[in-house]
Amino acid sequence: MPTAPPPGDRPLKTLERLLSKAGLGSRSEARKWIHARRVKVNGRVVEDPDKWVDLERDEILFDDQPLQKRASIYLLLHKPVGFLTTYKDPEGRKTIYDLLPEREQYLFPVGRLDMDTSGLLLLTNDTQFAERLTNPDYHVPKTYFVKASKPLRDEQLEQLRQGIELRDGPTRPAIVERKGVAAFEITITEGRNRQVRRMVEALDAKVEKLTRIAIGDIVIGDLKSGETRALTDEEVRKLRR
Ligand code: URA
Repeated sequence: MPTAPPPGDRPLKTLERLLSKAGLGSRSEARKWIHARRVKVNGRVVEDPDKWVDLERDEILFDDQPLQKRASIYLLLHKPVGFLTTYKDPEGRKTIYDLLPEREQYLFPVGRLDMDTSGLLLLTNDTQFAERLTNPDYHVPKTYFVKASKPLRDEQLEQLRQGIELRDGPTRPAIVERKGVAAFEITITEGRNRQVRRMVEALDAKVEKLTRIAIGDIVIGDLKSGETRALTDEEVRKLRR
């Protein structure tokens, strides 16, 4: 059982929480590393995940590397269909972590894509960056290629542009560009659950294929399905803006 923090106004956190907040991994993973004696506080191994520490005053080492100096990592994954955007699935289905090498297993996804959706997924260990991009107030544009189950008329695409009434309220205006009788690209500035699928269902059609092709100015380009690449510094800067 964790104890209450010692009195005072210092920015204290439990060791387990601090490691997780630093973007290293989940709290249960952090507990395992601590028990595996991989974490030192002020030069001594600490085996108690509930120890209170002060990031500004205590020196925390993970595998002998200062926690405060760990580099931020930003990856772009071309997620294939059939993979869950989650760390572990109780039913044992494939997850995006099955696609990542061991050294990248501590990164976490920025938002999520449905199991049946493919395309651009960002992964990082930078919590602030991820929070900003997923904060609904920032209206970060995301572009999807959609193939619908039947031809859609111009008025129907116009409905998508203007906003569609869904059970959780109307959608914000979207940019829609026709790409075929039943295909289009749509840029939305929200990230509601299964939003594009529900918008298409509101037109009495279904989504047959859904691929995210861009977030802001960052495009998936010709990255192959299942592969990752590092974002360039310029891409990270653009996403921060
Ligand atoms: N909209 C959806 O319906 N699904 C996704 O995965 C992303 C956006």
